[in-house]
Amino acid sequence: MSEFRRFFIVAAAVVAPVVCAAAHKPDIENGKTTFNTMCGVCHSVQKTGGPTLGPNLLGVVGRKAGSEPEFTGYSPALKASKITWSKKILDKFLLDPNAKVPSTFMPMQIADNKTRADVVAYLATLKKK
Ligand code: HEC
Repeated sequence: MSEFRRFFIVAAAVVAPVVCAAAHKPDIENGKTTFNTMCGVCHSVQKTGGPTLGPNLLGVVGRKAGSEPEFTGYSPALKASKITWSKKILDKFLLDPNAKVPSTFMPMQIADNKTRADVVAYLATLKKK
């Protein structure tokens, strides 16, 4: 084996896992930017204040659907859904809210898998405390 080939194989073995991991890691900054563009008009992620057209999403991961106490505009469908928001369920919901929860009032969907994963990863960073 030539030196060059040996170097190439070693380099590929070292670099490949890093590149693959990077490709699957959600980009939280992109999630935040996308959220601010697509969702921020309706949803607040601050402790107090912000838009009220949709429920506050601070701490949404782990919360029961339709349970944000200050939001009075929930659909009967979402309230009755018995969903507890996990990253996986949020991903399904945001792909097509009306397919996951028929008759929901939530109008926005994110078709692109990567962008959706980024937004869900961003939502998961938002904690109440
Ligand atoms: C035009 C306003 C509007 C926009 C834009 C919007 N939403 Fe909503 N969202 C709502 C409303 C209204 C509800 C309540 C739905 C219901 O009760 O069926 C909701 C509900 C939700 C819920 C469930 C919250 C809970 O308390 O159970 C999540 C999660 C959510 N939206 C995420 C998003 C994300 C992420 C985006 C951006 C991609 C987005 N929304 C864009 C209005 C909006």
